[in-house]
Amino acid sequence: MTTYKRVGGAKINQNAWCLESVIARDHVVPQRYFDEAPLGIVENFRDLLSRDVFSEGDSRALYDYVMTRKAEMSDDFLAMLALWLQDELKHYEGLRRTYHCISGTSYETMTRLFSERIHDIKPIKMLLEDEFTILVAITFDEMGSVYSYRRDLREYYCHFGPEIQKMGRHLVKDEGMHFNNAAELLLSYHAHRLDEVQPLLENISKLEKTLKKYHKAFFLDHAQEQHRFPPHFNQVVIQVILARLGVGDRPNPTALKDLWQWTPQEHTIVPLREPLNLAAPV
Ligand SMILES: [Fe+2]
Ligand SMILES: [Fe+2]
Repeated sequence: MTTYKRVGGAKINQNAWCLESVIARDHVVPQRYFDEAPLGIVENFRDLLSRDVFSEGDSRALYDYVMTRKAEMSDDFLAMLALWLQDELKHYEGLRRTYHCISGTSYETMTRLFSERIHDIKPIKMLLEDEFTILVAITFDEMGSVYSYRRDLREYYCHFGPEIQKMGRHLVKDEGMHFNNAAELLLSYHAHRLDEVQPLLENISKLEKTLKKYHKAFFLDHAQEQHRFPPHFNQVVIQVILARLGVGDRPNPTALKDLWQWTPQEHTIVPLREPLNLAAPV
């Protein structure tokens, strides 16, 4: 179910779903899913989750940083960001549950690991200049997440039963809404700066390529996984954003499909256990 909220003049959407009814804290993945998963999938999924769990939780650090400058931000932006944080923290808890039942890692261990993280805002300062640049950074990051979670859903989540699959689908849907909400605010309140969007996105993409690693401040967490994505990934994401803002053409469908179906040359294509309809309601 989608909840629509009117934030000032912009329509802000939230995908209203209940974590408890998707995956319980003590959920157990039946052994047959582990036995039947294609070779290497269990290990790779554990590895992937060991990063994604915590990068979702890093949303708190970014939010807290923005709050230290809240006097500079508009009320509508802050209202949108509060809804965004609710979702991201739900992703954190949902992925903790997923990681727990895929890897056996205890909740206590995850809590300890998270508390030891050092969130370094400095390397991404360029994205945080003002409300406008933060919104542009959100569009870039969230659209990247939509396609990477789509890819993960196809490669990993779909192999471990309906609960895990549903979790993956909600991630894709929520990140899409976060993208859309940021775009709405840009169009409603920052339309006079739309000509700055493309150069800023190009600079964000360049920064991501030079960062090499993720600095645990939520944005640009794909810096650590660039090998999994096609070389033109960022360029196509930028085109999607510009088209959404009405200042560019949509990329062609093949380029879009490549974002989540492309595989590196030496990579074995992971067979699908069952056809997955990503357009199906979650
Ligand atoms: Fe998220
Ligand atoms: Fe998000």
